[in-house]
Amino acid sequence: MNKVFFLAILFVLQFAIASDSTPFPPLWPNVFVQDFVEISTFGNLTTRDVGTYYYNYTNNTQCLSRSNGQFDLFCGFNKIEPLAYYQVVFEDKRYIYFPELNDCCYCCGLDDGYAVLNPYWFINPQFLRAINCYGVPAYKWVVYEKPNQQGPNQYIETNQENPLD
Ligand SMILES: *[C@@H]1O[C@H](CO)[C@@H](O)[C@H](O)[C@H]1NC(C)=O
Ligand SMILES: *[C@@H]1O[C@H](CO)[C@@H](O)[C@H](O)[C@H]1NC(C)=O
Ligand SMILES: *[C@@H]1O[C@H](CO)[C@@H](O)[C@H](O)[C@H]1NC(C)=O
Repeated sequence: MNKVFFLAILFVLQFAIASDSTPFPPLWPNVFVQDFVEISTFGNLTTRDVGTYYYNYTNNTQCLSRSNGQFDLFCGFNKIEPLAYYQVVFEDKRYIYFPELNDCCYCCGLDDGYAVLNPYWFINPQFLRAINCYGVPAYKWVVYEKPNQQGPNQYIETNQENPLD
């Protein structure tokens, strides 16, 4: 996921309330569903797709659907065809499913660090500044995948307490 660039993802962040200067870290709600638009690059190829992220930490389950899973970084048996794709996590195991191929593969699991993401997924996020993202007031963060500031990702969240209202 680290090489996939999410655009226009505005997660429902019910705890992202503005404080005086630095907002609270981008904690996820335990349960949410969010549609997204995504632009991915793989070598000199670029694909655009839409999808939905289903997250239920209470249930320890997660599902990610994409209209095109061509550039999936996990199982990698479909670099050529633009096929629909699901990534499903349950019982601490992550699977990749291509319905049009009726093909499924076990990807990875808890021992590899690929179970359901913890709502406290961020590691010492660094708040950069308040910005305007496609007309939406937002906060911009740098979030690290590993300790000691390894694997930096830019993360933009809406500053609305209830962004879908
Ligand atoms: C894209 O990359 C592939 C593999 O490296 C190469 O064969 C192809 O010529 C490249 N296409 C373009 C348009 O640059
Ligand atoms: C999330 O999981 C909990 C516990 O299993 C369940 O009660 C709840 O209905 C689930 N929520 C959604 C939206 O699926
Ligand atoms: C999650 O939800 C599924 C389907 O509703 C249920 O079978 C399962 O027991 C739940 N798991 C947990 C950990 O709540």
